[in-house]
Amino acid sequence: MLTLCIDVGGTGIKGNVFAETGEAKGERIRLETPRPATPEAVLQTALTVARGHQDFDRVSCGFPGVVENGVVMTAPNLDGDWGGFELQAALETHLGKPARVANDADVQGLAVIEGKGVEFVLTLGTGLGSGLYVNGHCVWNLEFGHHPWNEKETYEDRVDEAARKEIGNKKWAKRVLAIPARLAPIFNYRRLYLGGGNASRLTQADFPPNVQLIDNTAGMLGGLKLWSAT
Ligand code: BGC
Repeated sequence: MLTLCIDVGGTGIKGNVFAETGEAKGERIRLETPRPATPEAVLQTALTVARGHQDFDRVSCGFPGVVENGVVMTAPNLDGDWGGFELQAALETHLGKPARVANDADVQGLAVIEGKGVEFVLTLGTGLGSGLYVNGHCVWNLEFGHHPWNEKETYEDRVDEAARKEIGNKKWAKRVLAIPARLAPIFNYRRLYLGGGNASRLTQADFPPNVQLIDNTAGMLGGLKLWSAT
């Protein structure tokens, strides 16, 4: 069983084929996210990534917004009218394979969680993604990034890619460091994982032991788990 895992991001759309063991069976392909990132343009780019691969039996896709039953509800960092776009059905029709689409952070977390107690995932990229898992079950579509940090800003506003570029890595890293301190007393998570493209700009030693930096490849690998996820 070979799974084509696609990760749709605000700057890049990535894809590779994986065996059930997690072994990569192809070359990772990355294309720039088209701008404006309308449903049709993003779909076409995802299809180009998919067609760069042969031999896969099913398709998993992480998408940067709320996704219910394979239908996109929101896409804050993309363009155009995404509400109601049937991305999962479109991938199935064009590729002729069964497909599953879910929120990108939810998918990413599936690759790293241990399945015990409360586990929380934050992804640092164009936006701030979040995933919450209870004994391995995903609380789908938690949009923690849009929660207010103060009267003016959301958590996402403070640590998204636009903020990092504006204030520089040092200040940005300080802001990220302040997030677990706020979340821990509310969620009492066993573990918090920090992933996404910008996690590599952080230093593990700065965080408490139950906060773990994770590799961005989880963004794609989580797609393997999406088929058995609950
Ligand atoms: C979206 C989330 C997404 C995150 C990371 C946020 O702006 O609301 O759904 O997971 O960006 O892509």
